[in-house]
Amino acid sequence: MGVNKSLHGMASNFNHPVQKYANTLPYMLGGLTLVCLVLLMLSGMYMALFYIPTAQQAYSSTLNLIENVPFGEYARSIHLWAANIIIVMIGLHLARVIITGSYKKPRRMLYFVGLAMFFTILFLTYLGTTLTLDQIGADAAIRSQQTAALFGLSIPISQMVGPDAVAHTSIMIVALLLLLAIHMYLIEKIGISPKVTKNAIARTTAGEGTSNFLTHLKLLAGFGCILTAFIGTLALISPAPIGHPGVYDPTIMITKPVEAILFVNDKMLDVFGPYSLIWGPALLFVLLLLFPLVDRNPHVYWRKRIPAMLLGIFILAWALYFIYIDATAPTQYSGICATPPSNGVCVPALAENQTVENVTVLENESLGAGTKMYFISNGTAATPADVYGGFIDVPSKTQGETPYIIAALVVLAGAGVVILASDRLKRMYR
Ligand code: HEM
Repeated sequence: MGVNKSLHGMASNFNHPVQKYANTLPYMLGGLTLVCLVLLMLSGMYMALFYIPTAQQAYSSTLNLIENVPFGEYARSIHLWAANIIIVMIGLHLARVIITGSYKKPRRMLYFVGLAMFFTILFLTYLGTTLTLDQIGADAAIRSQQTAALFGLSIPISQMVGPDAVAHTSIMIVALLLLLAIHMYLIEKIGISPKVTKNAIARTTAGEGTSNFLTHLKLLAGFGCILTAFIGTLALISPAPIGHPGVYDPTIMITKPVEAILFVNDKMLDVFGPYSLIWGPALLFVLLLLFPLVDRNPHVYWRKRIPAMLLGIFILAWALYFIYIDATAPTQYSGICATPPSNGVCVPALAENQTVENVTVLENESLGAGTKMYFISNGTAATPADVYGGFIDVPSKTQGETPYIIAALVVLAGAGVVILASDRLKRMYR
């Protein structure tokens, strides 16, 4: 009897009314962000079974994941692609929220909580790039160490991977899940913002609508399957790369700027130094905070909110500028030679850490004391094989697993199409 009652309660909870327009793609973008988050957590948990967050073993345990763990490289590639796509999804979700004026009272708190989630995810992504401790990871770890030092946390660079891993896999995830619970609770309580018409006013809509939450969930599952198959296909076609073990040298950045994730570029680094990792995101945060604070009239129609629309266009241009910086930066600022190249640019006879014109010789911490690496500014090494800063080829198990992966992707994409098509047919013949 009791079980029956609670099952009935659960079913009616899922069957509450939902506005019909909430079943369209623009209003599913928040849910699709959640799909990416689930993929990130599942792939992350799998990798955490094999990853060892110490300076000595972070790199080798990642290599082991790629080379020896079943679906290890594929899980890592899903994680990388989902991390990229979640930022695109949040950007689109945020754009929809801004265009439909959904940040206005009574949804202000919902918007602020969303902003907090966005920045938690940006920092999570940045910290994630440090964990492999290849050259990109080492460069990002140097920056995170310099920023931590601003808060009085003086941790040696080579020890940074432990705290970075704890923040990435536990503290920030817990914070994110708490924020997500509040986000969802507020949506349920206030309802989705009203349909945008010329005279629509922001207001509570909970309990309104001629569709229901079950239908919304079914459609979200359809779109979610297709998105998952898309991310899975990207992961198969373009697996996550890995570089050589990183060299820690705070005076030279060898790889391209991962800081672009936090809206930081070289010019900012010149002006603000390590503070850039705070100022870059803070600037974007303040700009996004302006929407509900400045645009206070209750109208949601875009023509009645021209200043907010202009601010949105400005922020979009700013974000595109950073994407452009990231896409056009050289893949590495400098080359590191595994062996001295034949053109004589990389000279093995230099003393350790001595800079002569463009050439520096470094001791490589991760390869062990006494292993020298030869570093050339401006990537002028003779052949790609001589350059130690780029990515390396690692034999992985993915090739043998490909037929299973393709079968799973086809099933997922097919399920997505069937779910969406069946809903469309049902509506046509109703
Ligand atoms: C992890 C990131 C996020 C997740 C999983 C998420 C999830 C969701 C979901 C499922 C909805 C329901 C409707 C929809 O999908 O559009 C929603 C609505 C909403 N979200 Fe998010 N969201 C995230 C980030 C953000 C961000 C960054 C903001 C803004 C700064 C934001 C602000 C809002 C607002 C204001 C609504 C209500 C929209 C309306 O009533 O029309 N969310 N979110």
